[in-house]
Amino acid sequence: TIAQKVDSLLSIMTLEEKVGQLNQYSGSDVTGPADKRNVNVLAEIRRGNMGSMLNVKGAKITREIQQEAMKSRLKIPLLFGLDVIHGYRVTFPIPLAEAASWDLDAIQLGAKIAAKESSAAGLHWTFAPMVDISRDPRWGRVMEGAGEDSYLGSQIAKARVKGFQGNGLGSLESVMACVKHFAAYGAAVAGRDYNSVDMSPRQLWEVYLPPFKAAVDAGAATFMSSFNDLNGIPATGNSYLQRDILKEKWGFKGFVVSDWGSMREMVAHGYAKDGKESAQMSISAGSDMDMESKVFEEHLVQLVKEGKVSLAHVNDAVSRILHKKFEMGLFDNPYRFSDETREKKELNSLDNRNSAREVAKKSIILLKNETNILPLSKSIKKIALIGPLAKSNTDMKGFWSVDWGKEDQLVSLYEGVKNILGTNSEISYAKGCNINDTLTTDFEQAINTAKAADVVVMAVGEAFDMSGEAKSRSDIGLPGVQEKLIEAIIATGKPVVVLIMAGRPLVFNYTADHAKSILYTWWLGSEAGNAMADVLFGDYNPSAKTPMTFPRAIGQIPIYYNHYHTGRPFVDGESPNYRSTYLDISNAPQYAFGHGLSYTNFKYSNLKLSTNKIYLNDTIKVTLDVTNTGSRDGEEVVQLYLKDQVAQPIRPVMELKDFTKMMVKAGETKTITFVIERDKLSFYNEKLDWITQPGAFKLMIGSSSNDIRLTQDFDLLD
Ligand code: IFM
Repeated sequence: TIAQKVDSLLSIMTLEEKVGQLNQYSGSDVTGPADKRNVNVLAEIRRGNMGSMLNVKGAKITREIQQEAMKSRLKIPLLFGLDVIHGYRVTFPIPLAEAASWDLDAIQLGAKIAAKESSAAGLHWTFAPMVDISRDPRWGRVMEGAGEDSYLGSQIAKARVKGFQGNGLGSLESVMACVKHFAAYGAAVAGRDYNSVDMSPRQLWEVYLPPFKAAVDAGAATFMSSFNDLNGIPATGNSYLQRDILKEKWGFKGFVVSDWGSMREMVAHGYAKDGKESAQMSISAGSDMDMESKVFEEHLVQLVKEGKVSLAHVNDAVSRILHKKFEMGLFDNPYRFSDETREKKELNSLDNRNSAREVAKKSIILLKNETNILPLSKSIKKIALIGPLAKSNTDMKGFWSVDWGKEDQLVSLYEGVKNILGTNSEISYAKGCNINDTLTTDFEQAINTAKAADVVVMAVGEAFDMSGEAKSRSDIGLPGVQEKLIEAIIATGKPVVVLIMAGRPLVFNYTADHAKSILYTWWLGSEAGNAMADVLFGDYNPSAKTPMTFPRAIGQIPIYYNHYHTGRPFVDGESPNYRSTYLDISNAPQYAFGHGLSYTNFKYSNLKLSTNKIYLNDTIKVTLDVTNTGSRDGEEVVQLYLKDQVAQPIRPVMELKDFTKMMVKAGETKTITFVIERDKLSFYNEKLDWITQPGAFKLMIGSSSNDIRLTQDFDLLD
């Protein structure tokens, strides 16, 4: 068995060789503060001082580096890891955009293709999925996650792990997933990256941990700890998180890599007095591999000799890592993923690009379509594309794309529209302003371009590097004068469609109030322009829904749909006096969680519950009909929310507990079935027991969290 092989290898390893397995170095592309020391990486590998490298990629180079590992005494292969966050050569939509599809098959497909391409390029391991829940769009890393909801986030976490790991480690087309960042990183105070997190244990368990647990259950091979401290204890040195919860309670058998430099950063946190103490704290707390802190390499041998770190902890960490190397088949053939022929065939293949286009179009949200300007006719005579992102391909890749710089492989909106309209229509273009311009100098040309067209499509938003790691923003409005440009173009009286490209929910009140049609297109990756054109001209009927609440004002943040009532809830239409609201703005978001329109309409009817009184271990079967009442086929995401009416402790006003996305043909009616079982009615009490309390519940079925179409009360009996 693998366990026996690991034990027998461990028994012949020196302490230095064991510690070597726990070190991870970066190649030349750095994704964190660079190390100033001049280390001869290849020499360290030959000495057996390294277990893994990140930031090297490509079949040739990984083979060459692996050859050095084969010169070490025990010939233990290296693991090559990389941030393959949304595709490798073919870039898929940023993860938050994919999450907007609410399409688990599409999301799994995106991860599967990323795994196929990256495994062909010599990689064994991706630092994804990022499963951090976040209720704060100021935090730049929301672009990497699945949004604000733990149920949706858990389903997506599972889909991504399955996509990356396929049917199990060892297949040539699978890579190891790395679930990150453990834990609660998305709740950094004030949305500022790397900031502290202070939260109640109940909120941690109820909101932030479920996607991590779901990923463990889906078989995730590895975890990465987070940069933040959680209630005063940095995650990397947090044995409650890593040992008690992850490894003991959840039975996680893989290994945990620290984030870049985060072991040493415990000194900056003021938690460890020096690098040596941070090494001791990290390994004792269950961190297995040191990414670029170099504190294990410097101190671990000595710490064991001094008796400050138990050999059992080192052995456990090494065993976990070796286990994965065996599972990946690297001891049988350390070069099995470094295959230049497969790499050439796999990367950027037509099939992979087609999949990227499929996923991209499913990720576009139709926020508004007031006078049904959309979809546009393909026989349009003159169309104007206006805005700083209309011709950009660079920004389409989004942050954390692997092949930064391969702009020629990214389709811009302009190219996508041209691909669909060909030479039959006149396509004009004006930039109007740059993304961050503060002057309106170039507006005039844009206004004239708009005036000469029959319809205007505007492309505005963030540059690709305005959301992502270390990209928090205190003002999440449309950057620069872009909203003024929209105002000027709308003033021409022409039909205007606004496309917003960004890595987070932005605030754009003028546009939301005045533009008739708005598509939120995020950063869609390699096939961005084609996917946008598919939606603009109706070849694809939009079906995405917001995975995060879109605020009306930055002052509303954190804003999320599953909040508590308060003792003085604000009631719409009543006086705000002595009520939980603002003097200057309503509590309502600009776009609620789960919102997204279609070019057709869906009618919900015929809600039936198999019973409206259930006992604790029973289930309720819920059925309803969804009819497509329009003239186009379309997909709808039917959302099931529950509310526990009275409970101790109190429960949120509503919680997503299930959803289904399905195609309903024009005129067709489909019957949908959901099952409510005990777990969906359970929650953590103040002692963190998972409990179910008898009482009254409300079932809500809707097309979004603020568009509930059908409701029914039921009772849970003892
Ligand atoms: O995987 C990333 C992590 O999300 C942030 N810091 C750097 C790591 C490796 O690039």
